[in-house]
Amino acid sequence: MSKILILNGSPRKTGNTSFLVNELVKTIIENEGEAEVITLNNHKINPCQACNWCIKNNALSCVQKDDMNTFYPKLLESEVIVFAAPIYWFSYSAQLKLFIDRLYALHGNEGYALINKKVAFVLVYGDSDIEGSGVHNALGSLRHLSKYMKSEIVGIVHGTAYKIGDAEKNNQLLTEIKDLGQKIVNSL
Ligand SMILES: Cc1cc2nc3c(=O)[nH]c(=O)nc-3n(C[C@H](O)[C@H](O)[C@H](O)COP(=O)(O)O)c2cc1C
Repeated sequence: MSKILILNGSPRKTGNTSFLVNELVKTIIENEGEAEVITLNNHKINPCQACNWCIKNNALSCVQKDDMNTFYPKLLESEVIVFAAPIYWFSYSAQLKLFIDRLYALHGNEGYALINKKVAFVLVYGDSDIEGSGVHNALGSLRHLSKYMKSEIVGIVHGTAYKIGDAEKNNQLLTEIKDLGQKIVNSL
C-alpha cells in the first residue's frame, strides 16, 4: 500500500486540481516515491449519518456500505495524506467535505486513529483576489483538521486557476507543486 495518499476533490478530470495532482504524482515518482490518488468524484461517498455505530463498535469503519470502507485501510496505512480540491462557494468542494466528514469513523478505543499523519493541501480557485476567493475558509478548516490530527503540515500550495488549462500556465503553481512533491518524499 502506498504511503502517500492523495485525495482529489474535483469533478473535472482535466481540470486544474487534477493537473496539479498529476504533476505532484510525477514529482513524487521522479524522487523515487510512490503515491495513490483517490478521485473522490468517481466514488460513492454518502454523508455521515451521525449514528455513532463506528464509535459504539470501535469499528474504524462505517456501517454504510459505500466506497469509504475501502478507503479507511488506505488512510490507516498512509504516512502522508494530501487534500486537493477546488474552491466552491468559498470553501473546498463538497466531494472533499463528504470524505472529511466520514473520517469521524476513525475514532477508536485508543483515540483518533489518524493521529500523527503528515498532511499537505492543494487548492485552486477562480478569483484572482485571494481575499475574495474563499481559500482562507478552506485553509482554516484544513488547519483545524490537522491540529486535531496532531499532523505536521508538510506544505500548502494554492493559487488562481479558473478555466481548464489555467494551472498549466501558472508558473508559480508549477514551481510550488514540484517543491511540494520533493518535500513530501523527503518527509518520509
Ligand atoms: C460550483 C462552483 C463554485 C465556485 N466557487 C468559487 C469560489 O467561491 N471562489 C473562487 O475563487 N472560485 C470559485 N469557483 C471557480 C473554481 O474554483 C475554479 O474554476 C477552479 O479552477 C476549479 O478547479 P478544477 O479545475 O480543479 O475543477 C467555483 C466554481 C464552481 C464550479
